[in-house]
Amino acid sequence: MEQIWISKVGGPEVLEVRESQDPVPKEGEVVIDVRASGVNFADVMARIGAYPDAPPIPCVVGYEVAGTVLESHDPSVSEGDRVVALVRFGGYSSKVVVPALQVFALPDGMTFAEGAAVPVNYFTAYLAVGLMGNLQPKETVLIHNAGGGVGIAAIQLAKEIGGRIIGTASGWKHDRLRELGADELIDYQASEWPVELSRIAEGGVHLVLDPIGGKNLKLDMKALAPLGRLVAYGFSAPVRNGKRSFARILAGLIRMPRPHFVSLLNNNRAVGGLNLGHLWGAVARLRTVAEYVLGGWSRGSVRPVIHAEVPFAEAAEAHRLLEGRKNIGKVVLVR
Ligand SMILES: NC(=O)c1ccc[n+]([C@@H]2O[C@H](COP(=O)([O-])OP(=O)(O)OC[C@H]3O[C@@H](n4cnc5c(N)ncnc54)[C@H](OP(=O)(O)O)[C@@H]3O)[C@@H](O)[C@H]2O)c1
Repeated sequence: MEQIWISKVGGPEVLEVRESQDPVPKEGEVVIDVRASGVNFADVMARIGAYPDAPPIPCVVGYEVAGTVLESHDPSVSEGDRVVALVRFGGYSSKVVVPALQVFALPDGMTFAEGAAVPVNYFTAYLAVGLMGNLQPKETVLIHNAGGGVGIAAIQLAKEIGGRIIGTASGWKHDRLRELGADELIDYQASEWPVELSRIAEGGVHLVLDPIGGKNLKLDMKALAPLGRLVAYGFSAPVRNGKRSFARILAGLIRMPRPHFVSLLNNNRAVGGLNLGHLWGAVARLRTVAEYVLGGWSRGSVRPVIHAEVPFAEAAEAHRLLEGRKNIGKVVLVR
């Protein structure tokens, strides 16, 4: 089989296509002929050595694929099925072996590229907006980095709930994000977002989704209305132009707020943290999330926005799109 390896820590050029032995399935597992692999910001962070969850380098990353079942050792999945799967790394491969519990039927009419855009972005968005954030109709949600994969998934799920959506993103993405359902947008590269926010959301917001981390979380806490919730789910702040710096990582960690329960109590606020990559022990729970999210295809609310379908061997280009802030929506590798 073909795989894309991170050969060493470095720029996109360290991504190499290599031939590897075909994986051997065990009882309860499924072999998938991969037609599309989702690309995530976590993959970029793994490539630059700034993602603690990543396997040691050299390694093959990739958390999600879509394709056709070649072989099944589980009665719930059959050969020939068109499926989407959540994989614990190794998704940048032409073939993957996964436990059947992590395999979901691809809804009719959804392409493989759209399928590969679902698991990480929409499961994370659902857990942040729906479960942890518990967004209510008419409540206001602030979605940081609204123009990316998770950001757009969060816009779609918040829209379905009937929330008012304020997004932060680079300015050139705003027109498209309005078309996709955002009500107001702030260019957090060009302005002090808290100042803009206080102008458009007097009294604060009910839910903040933050994948930036660092001192941004302190500002988020201040932006919450009474009964407001903050869900932190990333730490992209230390990454600059696809490069890491330990100084920025350290500074970001030091500047992260340490909320005190007395203060949370007195201000009627909730703070939560979310990491899909630490939920492998809760796959059964993720199946209920998958059911809701994939059901959104027939409800018309879930419509993956594909920024680019990049040929498998050009994975470096896919990473350049994300770290260069050039994507609106999902980037997928296709075969
Ligand atoms: N906790 C979890 O389970 C989980 C799961 C999935 C993703 N995440 C996190 O959610 C965030 C979004 O992930 P994604 O895969 O959907 O990627 P993505 O948002 O599509 O990533 C690329 C976009 O991120 C924005 N961005 C923010 N900080 C950046 C930086 N330091 N360098 C470059 N671009 C930056 C840029 O848009 P703008 O120019 O508009 O800012 C860029 O276009 C990431 O921080 C990721 O680590 C967490």
